[in-house]
Amino acid sequence: MTATSIRSICCIGAGYVGGPTMAVIADRCPDVQVTVVDINQARIDAWNDEDLSRLPVYEPGLDAVVGRARGRNLHFSTAVEEAIAAADMVFISVNTPTKTKGLGAGQASDLRWVEACARTVARAAKGHTIVVEKSTLPVRTAEAVKAILSAASTEGGERSFSVLSNPEFLAEGTAIPDLESPDRVLIGGEHPEAIDALAQVYGQWVPQERILRTNLWSSELSKLTANAFLAQRISSINSIAALCEATGADVREVGRAIGTDSRIGPKFLNAGPGFGGSCFQKDILNLVYLCRHFGLPEVADYWESVVNLNTWQQHRIARIVVQKLFGTVTGKRLAILGFAFKADTNDTREAPAIRIARDLLEEGAQLAIHDPKVEPEQIERDLNLPASEAPDAEAGPTRAALSGEGTWWSSAEVADAVAGADAVLILTEWKHYRQLNWDQLAPLMRKPAWVFDARAVVDPAAVAASGLKLWRVGDGDA
Ligand code: UDX
Ligand code: ADP
Repeated sequence: MTATSIRSICCIGAGYVGGPTMAVIADRCPDVQVTVVDINQARIDAWNDEDLSRLPVYEPGLDAVVGRARGRNLHFSTAVEEAIAAADMVFISVNTPTKTKGLGAGQASDLRWVEACARTVARAAKGHTIVVEKSTLPVRTAEAVKAILSAASTEGGERSFSVLSNPEFLAEGTAIPDLESPDRVLIGGEHPEAIDALAQVYGQWVPQERILRTNLWSSELSKLTANAFLAQRISSINSIAALCEATGADVREVGRAIGTDSRIGPKFLNAGPGFGGSCFQKDILNLVYLCRHFGLPEVADYWESVVNLNTWQQHRIARIVVQKLFGTVTGKRLAILGFAFKADTNDTREAPAIRIARDLLEEGAQLAIHDPKVEPEQIERDLNLPASEAPDAEAGPTRAALSGEGTWWSSAEVADAVAGADAVLILTEWKHYRQLNWDQLAPLMRKPAWVFDARAVVDPAAVAASGLKLWRVGDGDA
């Protein structure tokens, strides 16, 4: 098998990683047929929707890429086995959430979807197939995948497999530019020909010096380590934000001062409501689990503290809201602006808004939630609480408010969410929230009214001029 022989790629899993990654591969490699398969029919139908604004993943620039390649050499289908059989290379890009029960619950990754995929590949593949791990997987998962595949190759005659690890470093919201000009592409594996074949695919648009080759385990561990280091920066700056608030310092000034040290660098120093997303927490907990497993409890504790600090920051923000509103939010209306875990995505996995909203609901608050891209049904699932009817802002307190029962509803417009509220909480840094007209919003609120800016996106002078009180993360003067 030579490096140039990849003609057909199948990707199992049409999610936030598989969809955008394959769209860019198809766009950049017009001679390679790329089929993305998923067992979820509704998701595949959405990927095939004529209307590109209805793709299941919101990602700036994705619609244009899909529009160029779909139907030409990019296909979305539920015919999983057929696509595997036709492929020279199969990417496994399925979900690997943290286990909720059994051995390693709360920390280890649940590999049942990966294992199911490996078994499907083992059953359906023909000829030589390169299997690429794309999901975030704990170190040494490739071993399990290899064991399943090698059992199949001994049974199946003319079939053989090579396993590669090719972790994804794209960040949601910037997936397309991240994929189109990555800092690096990492390929881990044992067979140089298989590594070359995948390097050749990326080589269509990524300079060779940015394609790093390692052994399988280094590749898998690099992904966990990169995420652990990034998340650690956020927990570090959030810890300093709390100290700034207590001392009168401003965390943005501290961030600028330390970020100009070229050894530290300016990125990932924004204090906020803590990190969310499908990777950081899961990957660190995975690292923690591995360290404990390998008899390194001190190392496990060190990394676990990054997650603990993050959880603390989220509870801390909810606590500050309660304290500033005279120690109680029972029956009070609060507007939550932003539910996604960051701007420019419709993804809410591990979003800080979930924990903060739950804490406030627990306190009996009435939450009007606005997000430009997140569907109300998703918020309902995340909060594990059905939405209520949006109450009339002019009318008196609702029955739920009077009885101290926390409720929420979704508001399509910021002004509707803010009407009648005692406070606005900004939890996602959507661009739109930077440009709000506080002179128009302030009169809609019940005084004394607060803005809690957990992302530091508002103009403090404009908020002050409108007569609202302001709390900003990491601002000792607010
Ligand atoms: C991350 C990694 O960046 C990516 O390389 C990996 O492949 C998957 O995990 P993602 O979770 O999509 O990507 O987004 P990212 O931009 O890293 O943000 C993660 C969280 O950290 C968000 O909730 C974001 O708001 C928060 N964050 C980020 C901060 O609070 N402050 C910062 O300075 C940067
Ligand atoms: P990620 O962010 O890693 O892309 P997602 O949850 O967005 O995660 O996507 C994973 C996708 O993988 C889901 O659409 C899910 O239906 C799909 N999937 C999971 N297991 C299988 C499987 N055995 N065969 C095909 N698709 C699968």
